[in-house]
Amino acid sequence: MSESDLRYGFGRNWAAFVDKNLSDATVQASMDHLCRVLKRDRLDGMRILDIGCGSGIHSLAMKRLGAAEVVGFDYDPHSVATSQRVRDWSGIAEGWSIAQGSVLDRAYMQALGSFDLVYSWGVLHHTGAMWDAVRHAAIPIREGGEFYIALYSSDTYVDPSPEEWIAIKKAYNFASPLKKKLMEADHLYRQVIVPELKAGRSALAAIRNYGSRGMNIWADIKDWLGGYPMEFAGLHETQDFVARQIGLPMVNVVNGEGCTEYVFADPAQNAHWRTCNAQRALQPLYGPFQSVGGYGFQAHLPAHAAVADDNGFNQRSRLMLFEDGVPLGLAHTIHELIRNRGAGRFSHWQDWLVFSARDNTDPNANGRSYSFCLDY
Ligand SMILES: C[S@@+](CC[C@H](N)C(=O)[O-])C[C@H]1O[C@@H](n2cnc3c(N)ncnc32)[C@H](O)[C@@H]1O
Repeated sequence: MSESDLRYGFGRNWAAFVDKNLSDATVQASMDHLCRVLKRDRLDGMRILDIGCGSGIHSLAMKRLGAAEVVGFDYDPHSVATSQRVRDWSGIAEGWSIAQGSVLDRAYMQALGSFDLVYSWGVLHHTGAMWDAVRHAAIPIREGGEFYIALYSSDTYVDPSPEEWIAIKKAYNFASPLKKKLMEADHLYRQVIVPELKAGRSALAAIRNYGSRGMNIWADIKDWLGGYPMEFAGLHETQDFVARQIGLPMVNVVNGEGCTEYVFADPAQNAHWRTCNAQRALQPLYGPFQSVGGYGFQAHLPAHAAVADDNGFNQRSRLMLFEDGVPLGLAHTIHELIRNRGAGRFSHWQDWLVFSARDNTDPNANGRSYSFCLDY
């Protein structure tokens, strides 16, 4: 196989994942995650498009949350077959269709009709033409609808750099089965265990708490190392692209792991997000902010220490930080990256909020306002 033909077989990984992990608990984890990110208790009556449906587990979670109709499609026939198997297992026959198709096929996307929610988790960066895929994915969003996507984060993957990762992925795809296993173990050690220890956090807790969407750490490591073609997207790059090209502002963001999750919707046309925004009572942050070196500054937030990240729960905090009323998004960042790279990265850690300005200026002197809310 030549490099230009290289395409990872996600579908086989999904088939193996479903063989070992399909359970009501797995589906429930996906339901909980969907509700958290979409800030809803139910998806009653919604028409949802699941682009790159993979295992089909998230489509099932949507149906169990009351979606009237879920249309799932995937490029890989093994993903399509796995989703169909999950649908058979669920016993849900109505309002759930599964097909083979590509988000890069513009005519296919135009023929799908319109949806209240377009969902595409961890897919668009694997198409070989990520920004075209984002544009196409947005075609079926109805007026006032919601767009929920997850893309590999260039804000998180800085060392090794995105270019080095692409070389590692190519090597993995060409490696023998034994070499693949060694690369997977090496990845767990270098990318999960060492960073957690360096950040003073518990690596065991990170492994134990892995899988907020019902996923499994080994399936995700295989997907990560194998997943090719692939591209990376920065949070602010994506936020600006979708605002400019699709006309939707970012209304929610979850980051701190490999993929950043974004929800875009126009609150002027979407009553749910209008209400959510109104309920986010922004509290001003008052300086002076103390420098922690480099681009990093800190504010003391002792009243919110109980809901902050700490050694045991490195993704617990739901604090959203705003600069001039716009969410900065890059939560849960290790402090070394805040100091060295800045660019709006922040961490709500124990008693402290450690943060940086989006343009790396001094927040004591840049004339911007900073505020936060605890988004539950
Ligand atoms: C990492 S998996 C994510 C699966 C699922 N969305 C999830 O969150 O578990 C990526 C999926 O995107 C699919 N995919 C890749 N390129 C695609 C394309 N052009 N159109 C539709 N699906 C595609 C792959 O076959 C794979 O099932």
